[in-house]
Amino acid sequence: MKNQAMYDGLIERRSIRSFKPEQVSDEDLQAVLKAGTYAPTAMGAQAPIIIAVQNPEDVKALNALNAVFGAGSTPYYGAPTVLLILTPQGNAVGTLDGASVATTLLNAAHAVGLGACWINRAQLMFQTNEGRAMLKRWGIEGRWDGVASIALGYPEGEPPKAKARKENYCYIIK
Ligand SMILES: Cc1cc2nc3c(=O)[nH]c(=O)nc-3n(C[C@H](O)[C@H](O)[C@H](O)COP(=O)(O)O)c2cc1C
Repeated sequence: MKNQAMYDGLIERRSIRSFKPEQVSDEDLQAVLKAGTYAPTAMGAQAPIIIAVQNPEDVKALNALNAVFGAGSTPYYGAPTVLLILTPQGNAVGTLDGASVATTLLNAAHAVGLGACWINRAQLMFQTNEGRAMLKRWGIEGRWDGVASIALGYPEGEPPKAKARKENYCYIIK
C-alpha cells in the first residue's frame, strides 16, 4: 500500500450532519478548495466552479432556498460554510465534472478534519430567479447550473457508522 492514510480516509469518511458553530478557518477552507480544484474533469478542462459561502446571511438564504424543494428548514444542518459546485450551462459532462469535484471536496474535508455532507437539490436552487440573483450579487459572471452543494464545518459529536456494504457491489472479470 503506497498511501495507507489516504486509503483509510476514503473508507472512514462519513457524511456529517452536526456541526460546531465556529467558522471554518481560512487555512482549512483553502486546503479543501485546493484539493477540489485537482479533481479529475473531462478533458482536464476544469469547467466547474466552487463557491464557498461563509457569510451567515447568505448561508441562511441558501438554507431557505434549498428548503423550498422539501428538505426541512435547515437542509445544511447548521453548517457555518456551504460549498456550491456549479457547471457552465450546456456542458454535456457538467454533472459528471461537478460530481467529481464534489466527491474530492468531501474527501479533502475529511482529511483536513472537517465534517461535510453532500446536499442535494443544487440544480433546482440555481434554476430559480433567487438563486440566479445570488450568483449575480456575488459577482459570478456567466450562466451556471447547480450540480451539488456541501455542508461544511467542524464536526460535533461522533460520526455515524457506515452501513454494511451491499453484496454484489463489485464484479471482477478475469
Ligand atoms: C447525490 C447525493 C445527494 C445527497 N443528498 C443529501 C441530502 O440532501 N441530505 C443529506 O443529509 N445527505 C445527502 N447525501 C448524503 C448521503 O445520504 C450519504 O452519502 C449516504 O447516506 C451514505 O453515508 P456516508 O456518506 O456517511 O457514507 C447525498 C449524497 C449524494 C451522493
